[in-house]
Order: sequence, then structure tokens, then C-alpha cells
Amino acid sequence: MVQSDKLGRNIRDLRISVTDRCNFRCVYCMPKEIFGRKYEFLNRSELLTFEEIKKVAKIFTLMGVTKVRITGGEPLVRKEIERLIAMLSQIPKIDLTMTTNGALLPEKAQMLKDAGLDRITVSLDSLDDRIFMEMNDVDYPVSGVLKGIDAAHAAGLTPIKINMVVKRGVNEESILPMARHFRNSGYILRFIEFMDVGTTNGWRLDQVVPAEEIIELIDAEFPIEPAEANYPGEVAKRWRYRDGAGEIGVIASVTQPFCGACSRIRLSAEGLLYTCLFATHGHNLRALLRDNANDNEILQFLNGLWGKREDRYSEIRSSETAELKKVEMSYIGG
Ligand code: GTP
Ligand code: 5AD
Ligand code: SF4
Ligand code: SF4
Repeated sequence: MVQSDKLGRNIRDLRISVTDRCNFRCVYCMPKEIFGRKYEFLNRSELLTFEEIKKVAKIFTLMGVTKVRITGGEPLVRKEIERLIAMLSQIPKIDLTMTTNGALLPEKAQMLKDAGLDRITVSLDSLDDRIFMEMNDVDYPVSGVLKGIDAAHAAGLTPIKINMVVKRGVNEESILPMARHFRNSGYILRFIEFMDVGTTNGWRLDQVVPAEEIIELIDAEFPIEPAEANYPGEVAKRWRYRDGAGEIGVIASVTQPFCGACSRIRLSAEGLLYTCLFATHGHNLRALLRDNANDNEILQFLNGLWGKREDRYSEIRSSETAELKKVEMSYIGG
């Protein structure tokens, strides 16, 4: 029997973080300056092994999971990530995908495809080097990400989506150039409202560019119309260019929350489960795995966890909830 959560939502989407490390330091995610503190990264021994991850993913499919997304930090910095992809791609009938910053795709894209990755999403916040470097904070050039996207395309990791986080006063002037660049490319550009994830990115509501404003801006130059969701509870709202140049998406977690149909659970690299992106604590699955629990015991634990779930952070966000000690984006992978 399918287990619904307390708000009647079913699980569909498992997001697996494979590392909390990253070769970028995006200011909205892992700012270098975190008020005098230093990032404390997980030790290798704390990470779930690929065998453990596969075991968990397989059990989740018994609960209704049909999509597995690999995230980080930056997932391509995890050693031998293609070996994990090869293991997960043996699980029948799952949509296996990854969110990456693209920097390592030129060397990894073909290996990932050969291992069985279906498609990929690449983050890119601007086509302007000055703005992009200011955002990634490691002087990484736009051309490197574009090369990564080309490599993913050549390897057939399609459809490719491009995620652009929009931050007021930082990269809003990149919205139209990005739209222009990715029209007619076959790539799906998605604009993401800057979110109050974690505790280190100094989020303020006035730094959010509402999706409606983004849509109006694009529509004025390239007329667009709404398109149907690909699946119930899709995170991005789809829009298509009226002239047939393709589609874009907006992810409006701040101004138009989508918790009502949230079908996602998140597994951290060290094996803690989070039932919301904005959760303040995780549930220790690694302990259960290392305690030699059998598959049925794990299934019961997961069903129990999902059954008790009543998260809807984006719907109840306020100045008080924004102050909570939420898990970091770089730790849970978005
Ligand atoms: P598709 O499978 O292609 O539909 O991917 P996706 O949109 O589910 O995944 P992706 O990793 O590209 O997520 C895009 C953005 O939406 C990221 O910034 C995520 O952090 C954000 N996002 C994804 N899921 C959730 C969620 O459950 N809640 C909130 N608030 N944001 C989310
Ligand atoms: N707000 C919105 N999106 C974010 N991402 C990382 N941090 C934030 C934030 N504070 C995005 C990344 C990536 C996706 C997984 O989440 O750019 O595309
Ligand atoms: Fe790294 Fe992605 Fe966070 Fe940027 S948003 S620091 S690329 S994990
Ligand atoms: Fe799901 Fe939490 Fe995001 Fe709402 S805020 S959509 S409950 S992950």
C-alpha cells in the first residue's frame, strides 16, 4: 500500500547528496565569509558508501519513488561518481538525473552517459564573466560552464535544463541575455527565486526578484504563454515562447510556494534524511544501515517517517521561520 504523508502527499522524488564539498563558493549558497566561522566538511568515513546509497534508493522505489536526482555540494567532485551512477541505473524504471555546476562535465559527461545517467541540469547564473565570477566567487569563467553544457549535449544527457538563481541587484540584468542565448537551443532555462535556505547566505526578502516580474520582463521582449506541468507537483512552472523557440521555467518557491504537492525527500551524504529543504534536523538512516537492519526494517522506518511528515515551510515562511537553524543548501543539495 502506498503511504501518504499527513497532508495526503505521496513520495516520488528522491534527492541524494553525495558530497557537501564544492569547487565553487556561490554567494547564495556557500559564501566564503560566514561571520567568522569556517565550513566543517564531512570526513570520508562519514559518507554513505555507494552500496549503501543503492540499497536505500532501491527500497525507496518500493514506496513509489520514480525519480532519483544526484546532488551535492557539487556531485562531480565525489570520487568515482560514475560508478554510483552505473549502480543506480540498474534499478528499473527510474528517471536518473543530476544537478551540477558543470565545471567537470567536459571530462565526465560521456562517462556519466555510458554509466546510465538519463539527463542533467546545469547551474549558470549569468553570461557575463564579471557577474558570474562575483557569484561563484572562485573566478570561474562562463566559458567553462558553456563547455560543460556542450559536453552534456554531445553525450546525449538530454533534455538539459539550465538553472539560474536570480538575486536582486546582483544578476537581474542577466535575465534577458540568458533568455536570448538559450532560446532556440533546445535547453530549458529556469529562473529560480533566491531562497532563504540554510543560515549563511544572508537572505533578505528584498533580494528576491519575484517570478512574476521575470515573466513580465521576458514576455515584453519574447512573448510567452503558460504550458502544462510535466507532472503533478513539478517544481518549475513552464512557459513556452509563442514563436516556437522553446520553453523556460520559473521556480517561485518564495512568492508562489508549491508545498501542496511536494513529493520530495532528501538524503544527505552522511545518511541523514530530510523531509523538507528547510528542515532543521534529519533522521539518521546511516545508523540503521550500519546496524545491519534488513530491507523490510528499513522500509518500515521510511514509511513511518513519510507517514508523519507535515512539512510546508515555503507556505508558512515568515521573518521568524527565516531565522531557524536550517540545513545548508551545500549539505543537502537543493
Ligand atoms: P526536474 O526533475 O527537472 O523537474 O528537476 P527539479 O526542478 O525538481 O530539480 P532542480 O535540482 O533543478 O531544482 C531546481 C531548484 O528548485 C533548486 O533551486 C532547488 O533547490 C529548488 N527546489 C527543488 N525542490 C524543491 C522543494 O521541494 N522546495 C523548494 N522550496 N525548492 C525546491
Ligand atoms: N536560492 C535558490 N536556489 C539556490 N541554489 C543554491 N542556493 C540557492 C538559493 N539560496 C540552486 C543552485 C542549483 C540548485 C540545486 O539550487 O544554483 O541550481
Ligand atoms: Fe556549489 Fe552549487 Fe552551492 Fe554553487 S550552488 S556553491 S555550485 S553547491
Ligand atoms: Fe517541499 Fe519543504 Fe520545499 Fe515545501 S518547502 S516544497 S515542503 S521541500
